[in-house]
Amino acid sequence: MSQFWKPGAEKPRILDDEEGGVLFLASSISSTSSGYGYASIEKQRLRLPVYKYRTAILYLVETHATTVIVGETGSGKTTQIPQYLKEAGWADGGRVIACTQPRRLAVQAVASRVAEEMGVKLGEEVGYTIRFEDLANSGVTMIKFLTDGVLLREMMDDPLLTKYSVIMVDEAHERSISTDILLGLLKKIQRRRPELRLIISSATIEAKSMSAFFQTSKRRRGLEADELGPRKDPAILSVEGRGFNVQIHYVEEPVADYVRAAVSTVLSIHDQEPPGDSLVFLTGQDDIDAAVQLLTEEAQANGKKNSSGLIVLPLYSGLSRMEQDLVFSPTPRGKRKVVISTNIAETSLTLEGIVYVVDSGFSKQRFYNPISDVENLVVAPISKASARQRAGRAGRIRPGKCYRLYTEEYFINEMPAQGIPEMQRSNLVSCVIQLKALGIDNILGFDWPASPAPEAMIRALEVLYSLGVLDDDAKLTSPVGFQAAEIPLDPMIAKMMLSSSQLGCSEEIITIAAVLSIQSIWVSTKAQKELDEAKLRFAAVEGDHVTFLNVYQGFLRSGKSSQWCHKNFVNYHAMKKVIEIREQLRRIALRIGIVLKSCERDMLVVRKAVTAGFFANACNLEAYSHNGMYKTVRGSQEVYIHPSSVLFRVNPKWVIYQSLVSTDRQYMRNVITIDPSWLTEAAPHFFQHQRPDPIGR
Ligand code: CDP
Ligand code: MG
Repeated sequence: MSQFWKPGAEKPRILDDEEGGVLFLASSISSTSSGYGYASIEKQRLRLPVYKYRTAILYLVETHATTVIVGETGSGKTTQIPQYLKEAGWADGGRVIACTQPRRLAVQAVASRVAEEMGVKLGEEVGYTIRFEDLANSGVTMIKFLTDGVLLREMMDDPLLTKYSVIMVDEAHERSISTDILLGLLKKIQRRRPELRLIISSATIEAKSMSAFFQTSKRRRGLEADELGPRKDPAILSVEGRGFNVQIHYVEEPVADYVRAAVSTVLSIHDQEPPGDSLVFLTGQDDIDAAVQLLTEEAQANGKKNSSGLIVLPLYSGLSRMEQDLVFSPTPRGKRKVVISTNIAETSLTLEGIVYVVDSGFSKQRFYNPISDVENLVVAPISKASARQRAGRAGRIRPGKCYRLYTEEYFINEMPAQGIPEMQRSNLVSCVIQLKALGIDNILGFDWPASPAPEAMIRALEVLYSLGVLDDDAKLTSPVGFQAAEIPLDPMIAKMMLSSSQLGCSEEIITIAAVLSIQSIWVSTKAQKELDEAKLRFAAVEGDHVTFLNVYQGFLRSGKSSQWCHKNFVNYHAMKKVIEIREQLRRIALRIGIVLKSCERDMLVVRKAVTAGFFANACNLEAYSHNGMYKTVRGSQEVYIHPSSVLFRVNPKWVIYQSLVSTDRQYMRNVITIDPSWLTEAAPHFFQHQRPDPIGR
């Protein structure tokens, strides 16, 4: 057995004895007995727990303006309910059924599954829209999956979302920032459109608070639905799942390295446990790739012995379609699939065949400190609610096991019960500009499902004011504010694009904006030295942004060749995506009046344009620092250049970064050199000690 957990030494735990008994209701519906038979799609549909509730769901949606549906992950909420609605006629007469998801990958995966179930081509009756990718066909699409963020954007053109008959806000328990804004706005829309139906669906039981949010003061009990329209008080429906018991194993001592611990646990499972796939929860692309690599090496080193028969697959956003399909495809007989995933597999996606779950206890989360105005992606402990969801993934087809890479004592005494809504731990700049663009002026008084921190709100107003997006009365400025709101990117990137128009470098800046909106243009590899050498071929003294331009130029000159990418450690799929996003940004730029022009090789104007957007992220090298320590100009936070940056160890005196990641230190990603005099030029008020107060306190 693994050195990390000792099942023999402890009593196995059944989740529901201590944890409320919600997850694991005994099955009343027989499942595929072995878990390895893949039933026909139609049979699978009828077997899903939600099918028993089909009539009830349709009745509640007919008679209530809002229906809250809670059901265990995998019970069929996302894939089935939109189909039931369509079958009941909610998509007749050109109307559309919308289903939102917080994650892009989930949108794609679920849409393609539903298209398959309905036997239609994806993009026709069933379509999806995520940022920079629209596979919906207006006039044809009846069921449309989209991210909550995209639906918010659609409101800018159609504030009452008139084409939708039903909007299902799915995965509401995730409390993503866009979901929360959407809920607040949908509540307003409902008052203007009584015929609109909302479904709020989620995997965990917080139905009461959701329902309370949609409760209107005047109850109209006893009135018939068809007399006066749908009832305003929300209905709540709980779909009973059919999860099997899951034995929980804890480590006896805290683990030092959860990636290694996870790998060794996977190998022990493979060694000692009967067939069944494993699902490992790590935090992000870096540790997932590291684990995949370790497992693959192990498999090679051991030849036929220990790890033969393992199919190791990563799962995170940004995977290509082919890689996604592999994760969902059935495991060949005699093999064991090991999927190593971010928390996307916690509730958004269900994989068939999982019997073993390995839970690191961590996920990547956004944290924002409004005092220092610093936002970070941090690897942070998950909540008990998440831990239960993760464990539940093991009990889908038969009793399973979950190996938690943390101690029982930690779980009981230290793990927080619930996560904090993203709204309360994010920078609100994007959120505020969107609400302003939708005409919501009193943002502090907005009806939020969870109120954001007033300091964060004030910071956001301040930044937008300095960007020239809001005026003294906190209204969108014309034209800059309205133009910036049209660009579906961070307002800082939007401002950078708008400034590039005057500076005559919009072609270059649009390329940079496209690169900044994907995760990385480099391949992820263990061959760090070779990757660093490859980067040097493109490295620009000005910094990463200009380096990106060099890579893009090289890619174009190669005739967009995949061999060229391979040779230079450049991610071919990422570059194709950059080209696609770039085209779309150019179209938006033209629409809002940005002059498309190249500055050829004049990188001074490119750096000025970056400064015009990102001045708030300016940093100065500490005069006596021997270890490359910078301080942020605002807030005096200690930060360092990330090792992946071409300016790592170069340490120029003044720089601007795009984002911070925090591990042992706060690291700046995507860094460019600037001249400090540009800062006051770009945002005179921002760098003055006494700033005018944009909300007039
Ligand atoms: O939304 P909920 O978690 O309640 O369930 P769902 O996503 O609708 O999944 C219902 C069923 O469809 C599960 O058995 C999934 O495994 C299956 N499914 C699939 O096989 N492939 C997908 N891309 C999505 C769902
Ligand atoms: Mg779902």
